[in-house]
Amino acid sequence: MPAVVITGTSTGIGRACALTLDAMGMQVFAGVRRREDGDALRAAGSDRLTPVLLDVTDEACIRAARDLVAERVGGAGLTGLVNNAGTTVPCPVEYLPLDVFRRQLEVNLTGHLAVIQAFLPLLRRARGRIVNVSSVGGRVGAPLMGCYAAAKHGLEGLSDSLRLEMGPAGVHVCVVEPGFVATAMRGKLERDTDTELQRLPREGRDAYGRQLTALAATISREAADGSAPEVVARAVTHALTSRRPRVRYPAGAGARRLLTLRRVLPDPWMDRIIGRATGYSAASRDAGRR
Ligand SMILES: NC(=O)c1ccc[n+]([C@@H]2O[C@H](COP(=O)([O-])OP(=O)(O)OC[C@H]3O[C@@H](n4cnc5c(N)ncnc54)[C@H](OP(=O)(O)O)[C@@H]3O)[C@@H](O)[C@H]2O)c1
Repeated sequence: MPAVVITGTSTGIGRACALTLDAMGMQVFAGVRRREDGDALRAAGSDRLTPVLLDVTDEACIRAARDLVAERVGGAGLTGLVNNAGTTVPCPVEYLPLDVFRRQLEVNLTGHLAVIQAFLPLLRRARGRIVNVSSVGGRVGAPLMGCYAAAKHGLEGLSDSLRLEMGPAGVHVCVVEPGFVATAMRGKLERDTDTELQRLPREGRDAYGRQLTALAATISREAADGSAPEVVARAVTHALTSRRPRVRYPAGAGARRLLTLRRVLPDPWMDRIIGRATGYSAASRDAGRR
């Protein structure tokens, strides 16, 4: 039975991946940070589905999860690893506290590397596949999302290098690049934007407050109208099971369009489009007029 480890399965894309792959008959090890999230997932899935406590920033926790999975899969190894866990904290780069930046990189980039290193021996055994859930933000930076852009661009680069290194071992590495997807991330972004607005010093709020509010409103609106997480789960399924897995999977609302524009348009054009689409340009003009 193919066995897959997925990180961040309490909600959203990770949960959809866990339930989709479970329904296909795979042995799913679903990473969660709270036991109750594991219980809820198990109730929604089959008896095969195994919740595993897995915080990607906690090395001891990763080792314990790896040991549990190794014991269950034995010599057959691991067919797939889906690095999906992620968070988003909006903040202007000018006022980005270094500890917040480091923490974001830890969850969205370094944590994935730690999980990959822990599970690679099992993946090599099965000539398995690694699916890294990046984002359109891994190739298109948005204003006030410097933390996220840095981590996701890093994940894209890491994935390219790893794919080349793993080719001879028969371990395929790909990235899934979601656009707008309706998940819990939306509510978290609204909450974190409020916290951020409180945290900024007065001059930071004067300079960026309106833009932060506009960005949160835009992302929230786009995500509400966005694709169901199952759309991304389908891309992940293709990446894990197809005889010819791709290297990149744009998935969900807006992903293909934005990534094509990024490829064909000169940077200044792209900057104008992103500035307008995120509400940043208009909010900056308003702030300037005050
Ligand atoms: N939604 C979108 O529009 C969108 C677009 C592009 C890319 N993505 C990417 O898709 C992935 C999933 O996001 P989502 O939209 O499904 O958001 P979500 O519903 O908020 O899910 C994020 C998951 O990551 C988990 N997580 C957070 N910190 C973790 C840590 N330190 N260790 C392990 N797990 C952790 C969360 O667990 P807790 O419940 O314990 O916090 C949750 O299960 C992310 O990598 C995100 O960047 C999403």
